Amino acid sequence: MSEKEIVLSGIRATGNLHLGNYYGALSKFVKMQNDYDCLFFIADLHALTTSPDPDALHENVKNILAEYLAAGIDPEKATIFVQSDVPEISEMYLLLNMHVGIGELMRTASFKDKARKQLGLTDNGDDIEKQIIGTDSNKRVNAGLLTYPTLMAVDILIQKAHKVPVGKDQEQHLELTRRFARRFNSFYGVDLFPEPENFNFGGHAVKVPGLDGSGKMGKSEGNCIYLVDEEKVLRKKVMRAVTDEGPKELNQPLSQPVENLLTLMELTSTPEIVQSYRDAYADCSIRYGDLKKQLAEDILKVTTPIRERYQDIRSDDAYISRVVRQGAERARERAARTLAEVRQAMGIRKF
Ligand code: TYM
Repeated sequence: MSEKEIVLSGIRATGNLHLGNYYGALSKFVKMQNDYDCLFFIADLHALTTSPDPDALHENVKNILAEYLAAGIDPEKATIFVQSDVPEISEMYLLLNMHVGIGELMRTASFKDKARKQLGLTDNGDDIEKQIIGTDSNKRVNAGLLTYPTLMAVDILIQKAHKVPVGKDQEQHLELTRRFARRFNSFYGVDLFPEPENFNFGGHAVKVPGLDGSGKMGKSEGNCIYLVDEEKVLRKKVMRAVTDEGPKELNQPLSQPVENLLTLMELTSTPEIVQSYRDAYADCSIRYGDLKKQLAEDILKVTTPIRERYQDIRSDDAYISRVVRQGAERARERAARTLAEVRQAMGIRKF
């Protein structure tokens, strides 16, 4: 067996990948595959918690697989698989749930956020728990959404991963995973699971902002640049990004929308270019049209090669199937080993 540290991460099969997914996750996958024992997967079961659409699911899985490959994940270096191809995950999810509290799941930020959306609530009031229990069957929050962190913890623990490259928004889920690992190890007096950590080049977790001047880039916020956006579409999106009326005083603090564009620029442009726009804001000479043109140009340098490779790979069904069949085999081998240890620890024995 390899001595390298184990890396595992995944992305939900809910559509195409955007720059948030790329800088928060996928670009790290590509860099890490050379130095670690890596497994990267498509979280199709997690996608069911918010988007149960049987016609779209399989296509979404294939899109993301093709994006993984187009971005440079090499199936000879890393294991690429689909979550539902590893049924051991579903069994261990049931078992781990016996050690997870409903309260701790209900308190997670992403649960509250998504539960609010499922209930159609707009305000951020604290009585979300009451609303969840009190709603009728037409408006329900599904239990899969509540136990999303258990399933994510199992993805990680079943492979005994040490490092989990994810964006900032996933850190609370990782914290829970560590807690569940400690709890399981100590309850059964075993040493089965390492405590996994996020991984970032440069040290701190990434939060990629959207183009609408507010929060993070996200599929449901409609503020995304997709890796496969055509050049024209991408330029248009960037040129329409929210800014402000322009700085009025020397050295005034950056407004949120402009800070967001500069954050995007920091990811895609050179430090000199970013600094020149920061200076131009400080001395009130900034022209947002120029900034946006530069930003679109630099984003396209990243996305164009990926989009071109994507088109070829996406149409090669035979290749995609081969990659995931081989990946599932490798992922299942390790998962089955861990599941056997978990069953043993919990007292489930074969007759
Ligand atoms: P998903 O599909 O929501 O996000 C996939 C990855 O993209 C990152 N990300 C971002 N990073 C920075 N800025 C953004 N605006 C942004 N938007 C998305 C997310 O942090 C994530 O790394 N729960 C996971 C899927 C998953 C998983 C796992 C990950 C299921 N099991 C086990 C790691 C290990 C998720 O949020 O996917």
